Amino acid sequence: MRLRDKVALVTGGGSGIGAASCYAFAREGARVAVANRTLAKAEAVVRAIKSEGGRAISIGADVSVGADVQHMIDTTVAELGVPDIVFNNAGISPSGRVTDISEAEWDECISIDLKSIFLTARCAIPLMIEKGGGVILNTAGTFGIRAARNKAAYSAAKAGVINLTRSIALDYAREDIRCNAICPGFVDTPLNANFPATARDAFLEQYQPLRGLIGAGDAAEMAVYLASDAANMITGQIFVLDGGQQAGLYA
Ligand SMILES: NC(=O)c1ccc[n+]([C@@H]2O[C@H](COP(=O)([O-])OP(=O)(O)OC[C@H]3O[C@@H](n4cnc5c(N)ncnc54)[C@H](O)[C@@H]3O)[C@@H](O)[C@H]2O)c1
Repeated sequence: MRLRDKVALVTGGGSGIGAASCYAFAREGARVAVANRTLAKAEAVVRAIKSEGGRAISIGADVSVGADVQHMIDTTVAELGVPDIVFNNAGISPSGRVTDISEAEWDECISIDLKSIFLTARCAIPLMIEKGGGVILNTAGTFGIRAARNKAAYSAAKAGVINLTRSIALDYAREDIRCNAICPGFVDTPLNANFPATARDAFLEQYQPLRGLIGAGDAAEMAVYLASDAANMITGQIFVLDGGQQAGLYA
C-alpha cells in the first residue's frame, strides 16, 4: 500500500495509461478521481475500482478548458479531499507537418497536451501548498526529446511538457511539491489503435531495442513509484520508458 490515504487525480483516466494508473493507484490505497473528457469512460473505470473494493469518483472534464479544470479540482476536493497527487496524463496525438495542419488543429493539440498542465497546476498547487506538499506527474513522450516526422504539433507540445515539468519542479520545490514526467515510447493503448499491426511491428523492429510491447501497466507502475514517498527526493526529472529507443540515435 504505497499510496495509503492519498488522494489522486488522474486526467485521461478513462483509457490507456490513465486508466491503468487509476487502477494501480487504487490498489496502492489511494482514493482516485478519474477525470476524462468522455465521462462514460471514467465511469467504467470507477465501477471497476469499486468492484475491487477501492474508492473512486468520475469527473467529466475537458482539460484544455479552464472552467472544466476548475470544476475538476473543486469536485475532487469536495468529494475526496485536496489531491496529494495530480497526474496530468490526458492527451491526443495528431499527425501532420506544419504545412498540413490548420491553426485550429495546432491550437487543439497544444491546448490539450500542454496548456492543460498549466491550467491544472495553477489550480492544484495553491491547495497542495496549504496541505503541506504534493506530487505532480505529467505524461510527456519520447517525441518531446527528439521530434518525429509528421508530428509537428505533438512533438512541440511534448517538448513543452518536459520543460514545464522542470519549471514547476524548480518553482515549488521549497513548498515540498515534486514534479516529474513520464516519457513513454510506443505504448500499446487505444491511442495507437489505428496503427496497423504490421506497421507497428516494423516500427518496433527498427526503433525499439528491447523486444515486446510496452503496456499501459508499465507506465502505471512508474507513476506509482514517482507518486509515492519512496521518490521523495526526486523532482524535475524525465523518466523514459521506451524499451531502449533513446539509448542511441540509431537502432
Ligand atoms: N500510447 C503511446 O504510445 C504514448 C506514447 C507517448 C506518450 N503518450 C501519452 O500518454 C498519454 C495517455 O495516452 P494513452 O496512450 O493512454 O492514450 P488513450 O487514448 O488510451 O487515453 C487518453 C485519454 O485522454 C482522454 N482525453 C483526450 N483529450 C482529452 C481532453 N481534452 N480532456 C480530458 N480527457 C481527454 C481520452 O478520452 C482518453 O481517455 C497522452 O498524453 C499521450 O500523448 C502515449
